[in-house]
Parts: sequence; C-alpha cells; structure tokens
Amino acid sequence: MIPARLKLTFVFAGAMTVTGAALGIAVSASRTAGAYSAIAREALADGDLAMRIVEQASKDREPVVVRDSSGVEQIARSVAARLEVIPGYVVIVGRKANVVFTSFDVRDLSDDDWTTLQHGIADLPDDGPAGVISVGQERILFVAHAIHDSTTRLSRVVTGVRVRGAQSLPTELVTTLFAVMPLAIALASWGMWLMLGGTFRRIERVRRGVADITDGRSLHRRLSTDEASPEIAALIDTLNSMIARLETSFAALRRFTADASHELKTPLAVLRADVERAMSATTRKDDRLVALEEALHETTRMADLVESLLTLARADEGRFDLYRERVDLSELTQEVYETALILGEGAGVAVNLPFTTEVTIAGDRTRLRQLFLNLVTNAIKYTPRGGRVDIGLGRHPDNVTFAVRDTGAGIAAADLPHIFERFWRADRARSRTAERGGFGLGLAISQWIAQAHGGTLTVQSRLGKGSLFTLTLPLDAADRAEPDDETLPEH
Ligand SMILES: Nc1ncnc2c1ncn2[C@@H]1O[C@H](COP(=O)(O)OP(=O)(O)O)[C@@H](O)[C@H]1O
Ligand SMILES: [Mg+2]
Repeated sequence: MIPARLKLTFVFAGAMTVTGAALGIAVSASRTAGAYSAIAREALADGDLAMRIVEQASKDREPVVVRDSSGVEQIARSVAARLEVIPGYVVIVGRKANVVFTSFDVRDLSDDDWTTLQHGIADLPDDGPAGVISVGQERILFVAHAIHDSTTRLSRVVTGVRVRGAQSLPTELVTTLFAVMPLAIALASWGMWLMLGGTFRRIERVRRGVADITDGRSLHRRLSTDEASPEIAALIDTLNSMIARLETSFAALRRFTADASHELKTPLAVLRADVERAMSATTRKDDRLVALEEALHETTRMADLVESLLTLARADEGRFDLYRERVDLSELTQEVYETALILGEGAGVAVNLPFTTEVTIAGDRTRLRQLFLNLVTNAIKYTPRGGRVDIGLGRHPDNVTFAVRDTGAGIAAADLPHIFERFWRADRARSRTAERGGFGLGLAISQWIAQAHGGTLTVQSRLGKGSLFTLTLPLDAADRAEPDDETLPEH
C-alpha cells in the first residue's frame, strides 16, 4: 500500500502538471492566433497599398500594364517603381492569369520555390481568408485582393508577409513555461508534502495516544485537543467520550467482580469451618449435626448468590428469558400477601392488604413474583418488631401499581440514589451479623424485572419513618378496564 501522504502529493503534482500544460497550450494557442491575425493585417495593409497605387495610376490615365518587345504584358515601369516600396512579397496578376509584377523578395526565390508559390497563389480565394504557403524554409502568409476595375487589365493583387515572427513568440513562451513550471510544481508539491505531513503527524499522535490508553489501568487518561484542527478535535472528543464510557464500565466490572468474590468468600469460610467442625473427632454428634446444618445453610446462600449473579449477567447481556403469559396480578398479590403474613409473624411485624384489584397483564409470572417477594421481604426485614407493612395493588387508566409500605428503618436521602446498585446495602456489617443475610442484589434484580416489563420501580423513604416502594407496570389496551385509582399514601 502506498502511504496516503505520498499518494496525495503525487496526485497534487500530477494535477498541477496537467493544469500547467493546459495553461501553456492555451496561452501559446491564443498568442499564435493573435500573432497570425497581426501578420494578416500587415499583409492586408500591403495589399491595400498596392491596390491604391494601381488605382491612382489608372485614375491619372497613366498606362498600368504595357507590352514589352516580345508582347508579354508587364506593369508599367513608373507604376512598378512605386510598387517596389512595399516590403515583403507582392505578386500582381493580369486578366489572363499572367503574372505582370513581382516584388524583390519574390524575384529572389529559386525557380522551384517560385513554382510552388504560383500554385499556392492560384488556390488562394479572392478577398477571402489569408493562407499560409510554405516556400523553401519560409512560411509566408498571403492575402489576395481582386481588382474589379477592368481598365487596369489586372485581376488580382497578392501580398505576403513572413510568419517567422509569429512562430518565435510561442516558442519563447513555451521555453519560459518549461523552465518555470517544473520549479513551481516542485515547490507546490513540496508545500503539499509538508502540509500533509503535519496533518498525518497529528493523526498519528492521536493513534499513539489511543494505543497508550487501551490498557485497562490507563483509562483515566484523556487525549488532548491542543493544537488540533477542528476535524481532529472532533475525532478526539469522540474518542475521549468513548474512553470515558469504557472507564465507567471497566470500573463497574471491577467493582462487581470484587464484590462478588467478597460475598462468596465469607460463606465459603463459614462452610469450611463447619465442615472441619463436623469432621473433627472431638466434636459431639449433636454439634456435628448443627455444623452440617449451618454448612447446608451457607451452601443455600451461595447458591442464591450465584443464581442472582447469573440473572444479572444474563440481563446485562440482554439474554434474559422473559416468558410472557397472562398473569393475574390480584392472585399473585394474594399469594405474596400470604407468604408475607407468615414471614411477618416470625418477625413480629403486622402485614396488611388494605386494597387490591382485579387486573391481568402480559408478563413473566415467576419474575413478577420474585419482584413482589423482594419488596415484601425487604419491608419485613428492615422493619423492627411491632412495625407494620401494607401491601396494595391499584389500577389506574394506563397502569397498575404494586406498592409496599413499611414503618421500618427507612433510607437516608443520601443513600436513596444507590439502593438499586448491585451489592449496595445501607449497612453491610449489620445486615450480615443480624442474619438478615441479603447480598444487596435484590433491588438491582427487581429494577431490571420492572424495566424488562416496560415498568418502573421507585422509592420514597425517610430515615427512621419507613419506606414506600412502588412498582408501576403499563397496561396495554387489552388489560384496561374501569380504574380504581387507589394508592398507598406516603409517610
Ligand atoms: N424497605 C426497606 N427499608 C429500609 N431499607 C431498605 C428497604 N429495602 C431495601 N433497603 C435498603 O436497600 C438495600 C438493598 O436492598 P436489596 O437490594 O434488596 O438488598 P438486601 O435486601 O439483600 O440487603 C438494603 O440493604 C437496605 O439497606
Ligand atoms: Mg432484599
């Protein structure tokens, strides 16, 4: 592959050469035409002069044509003397196409040239365009005038002027062009080469900058737009924003991996201790069972964690399997409410279902149940004994809401933007030791399920007062019926 810089310079030099050549040809052609017309004017003027001399003689009743001793017609001596002052080639032809006068230059020609000239003159149209006749080394431009005055016994006057001058003009010009043009082209191409070099160097600098950054650890770096042309600056801006996006996703990935390994480390350590305890010869049978039970519990926790991670990984990949079917939300709410009653009883939290509605939507029943249960178990988990949890299913003109309100711990305003993040927990240490056992993935998964259904999951909460989580799912035309417009009030 030829480098673009070289190719562009060559194309530029080629274009310059073609332009220069075309210009040279055009100028020389127009100058030649100009020179020829100047010579033609000169020949015409000579012809006019010859005509006037002849006409004057005829007017003065002077004999113009006389016969010599051998009967050959010739111009009269006195008239010929006057005609001799006309420079260049003059030939005067009589009535019978006989030559009656030739100027000095014509008489000076060799016999062969004279024959050639006579043929050329015979072909020349009267009062028509000038014609160039090559005689020996010379190129002569001739014009012919017809003489209509019959008393003169003459038919035409032919005058000619050498065109040597006309040829030498374009030659000079071409020589100049040949000397100057290559220099100009070379200079311009060199300038082009330098200019392209600058541009390509800047592109190369950008490329090297990007090459230096692709390493995951240098993603915080950005390319500088200093001294960059607007086009390259735009390219750099695009690359910079791409690098910024890469940095964000790299950081998220790193955090996710770190969090996931950390979450697996703890149950693994507990599991290991349990198994060691169970295997120890000194452990009593009862304790051995307790240890194994705990080991089983940790295994279940780990299985849950891996399941959640897989769900999120699939969601990220867009490979989630949403089995859409008709889901009776009132039935689902009732089912979740009954589970919540049992959980609430254990936790000393009163669970109520103040309102529900008959509504069916197209959705994934398993995923929706998971979402409902996540919200309800969170509410019970983060509400101290003696608290209350209300569940409500309400229908509105365009959507249906599933709301869970609790009188529990609540969430600090500063934490609210984070609660849907993966592995985020208000108090990591407490949630583990208190055996609440969450990983901080529940709300992340819940939000994904809501979004996969075209819905939203929002939260309103005040620290120490309680929280209200509201899932809003859109109703399509088929789902819509008379709305109830019931919602759980905020705290
Ligand atoms: N109803 C709630 N009341 C108070 N805090 C909550 C409530 N629901 C969620 N949170 C906070 O949000 C965090 C993330 O919730 P979640 O993703 O379900 O994780 P997990 O339940 O495993 O801790 C919880 O650790 C808790 O701090
Ligand atoms: Mg949870």
